Amino acid sequence: MRDSLSSASITDGLRTRFIGQRVIYYPRLASTMTAAKQEAQRGATEGTVVIADEQTAGRGRMKRSWLSPKGNIALSIILYPTITSLPYLIMLASLAVADAIEAVTGLKTQLKWPNDVLINGRKVGGILIEGEVRGRKLDYAIIGIGVNTNLNPSHFAELLPVATSLGDELGGEISRLAIIQRLLVKVERLYLALPSAETIYGPWRDRLVTLGRQVEVSWGRTRYQGIAESVALDGSLLLRHPDGSLSRVVAGDVSLRG
Ligand code: ATP
Ligand code: BTN
Repeated sequence: MRDSLSSASITDGLRTRFIGQRVIYYPRLASTMTAAKQEAQRGATEGTVVIADEQTAGRGRMKRSWLSPKGNIALSIILYPTITSLPYLIMLASLAVADAIEAVTGLKTQLKWPNDVLINGRKVGGILIEGEVRGRKLDYAIIGIGVNTNLNPSHFAELLPVATSLGDELGGEISRLAIIQRLLVKVERLYLALPSAETIYGPWRDRLVTLGRQVEVSWGRTRYQGIAESVALDGSLLLRHPDGSLSRVVAGDVSLRG
């Protein structure tokens, strides 16, 4: 039977200090990012979580849409970090998603630069960071997390070749509550470890399946090819081109080759 989400079911017994101690739950919402942004602009307490059972206009990176039907996990966490912590939010969120999936389901995950969580090479989770910078100060940051829990990829032609879900991998209905709670605990633990970025950067780098692989990176209309050599402390990808030169890719979309 499908679990039922509510603010109380998430906060009950949640072992965090502040992340997820306030949960705003919607059965149906355009995007938790938009609602979280409005909450942040009104000064919501740090760690407030906006969660929806179903999103009708979920957003992905690079202005893409994110399919988020009923039964998936779609949530946004409001934070007020320093601007120097911003690059680490992607890393910590990716690690937390991977950890929560592995701890609760036993499935093995991989991370693909910059922020995809994969199972057997297919995308099971995505992370979107949005924030507002004023001058040299960050007003707020929002970590958006989508995990395909009970989505059936075969119902969505465009997802079938690239996506998977926990339910599909395990062959049954997945309870979201344990995953959400573990995820919030892990995000808080890693967030509190900042600004010691090494505790986040090292484990993130070590889990990237992208490194050492021949990749194609697209950024707008530009495409670069090369070997993904390493990632810098700020999360950017260092790409070795066939002519031996090295470039740094700050954002973009990576396809793994071969
Ligand atoms: P473009 O053609 O510009 O590369 P697109 O048409 O593939 O973009 P969308 O259809 O908006 O863009 O989808 C964005 C990407 O994210 C696609 O690769 C899509 O398969 C993927 N995507 C969307 N929702 C999910 C989801 N729930 N799980 C996994 N992947 C998803
Ligand atoms: C990506 O891989 O492109 C990022 C996907 C992020 C999806 C999540 S679901 C919760 C939050 N609300 C949104 O509209 N997007 C993020």
